[in-house]
Amino acid sequence: MRFGMNQNQEVEKIQIENEYIKAEIMTLGATLLSFVEKESGIDVVLGFENLDGYLNQHGSYLGACVGRCANRIKGGHFVLNGKEYHVPLNDGFNSLHGGNCGFSSRLFEIEEQDPNHVVLKLNSEEDDEGYPGNLCLRVCYRLEGRCLYFEFVGESDQDTIFNITNHSYFNLDGALSKSILDHELQINSDRVALIDESGCTTENVIQVENTGFDFRELKKIRNQLNISHPNIESARGYDHNYVFENLEYKTMAILKGEKLMLEISSDLPGMHVYSGNFLDGECCGKQGNFYGDKNGICFECQYYPNAINYDRFIKPILRKGEIQTHRICYRLAKREN
Ligand code: GLA
Repeated sequence: MRFGMNQNQEVEKIQIENEYIKAEIMTLGATLLSFVEKESGIDVVLGFENLDGYLNQHGSYLGACVGRCANRIKGGHFVLNGKEYHVPLNDGFNSLHGGNCGFSSRLFEIEEQDPNHVVLKLNSEEDDEGYPGNLCLRVCYRLEGRCLYFEFVGESDQDTIFNITNHSYFNLDGALSKSILDHELQINSDRVALIDESGCTTENVIQVENTGFDFRELKKIRNQLNISHPNIESARGYDHNYVFENLEYKTMAILKGEKLMLEISSDLPGMHVYSGNFLDGECCGKQGNFYGDKNGICFECQYYPNAINYDRFIKPILRKGEIQTHRICYRLAKREN
């Protein structure tokens, strides 16, 4: 179905559905538009009613798939195979979410579609936003029971950076809710990386114990945010990468709202938690809700931000000819306790 026009190109909206879940996706940015638990009728992701809303949001990447490199690259600079690369600085001194024209603003084509899955494809050419290699990306959305799976499959004709994530903002209390502060959150990691004054993740990984970053057990977000920490203050909330270390598939976080719960799993080594600190209250979202600070929370499963420049972290490199697949799952169910 046609969702609108962007730069003379038609943007399509696709619906996938099963017994429990209904989701809508658009071809621009392979964006998740809605994610509905059918029995309650609650849509748990922030979004806009029409394409214009998405085109005019203030750098918030609502529901989009971001790449080639999710989050920040310090100074927009990295070295790969001895060669220096410069990618656009679109976040102060950093390159954020793939640059000025990252994958979130690109039109994907529909490659496959049936009632419960869709495969979207993007060919990103050599030197696209300064990155090496012709990269072919496939984003597969698939429903299985209560799970919405994302599969990011990449193949390139040269070594390149490959770090894709989904940037959905969750609010489990539905489209009119103003805040996630009363949601409860569990994050299955005991370590988080601090950020520098530019918001870029550093190599300084701390233990979460006795800090507002500690979500090893289910805790109310509001209470943890109230525990003062200079890094939480400088970010105006959470904008930090939790460290998981390996590429095994694991459950990374559980979020609970009034009636629903969400479980986030992936095979990626990090999860960047962003509490919507820059939502400015000026963009009119679903049902007329103007999204402000802490209206939604993102769980961006990805390689560690700026990992290409740090030797102690796993680097997000896709080798020439290799086919790399990463998987994220959002499992949405009724809250049991
Ligand atoms: C990411 C970043 C945040 C912010 C949002 C988009 O989560 O880490 O700092 O830029 O994207 O607004």
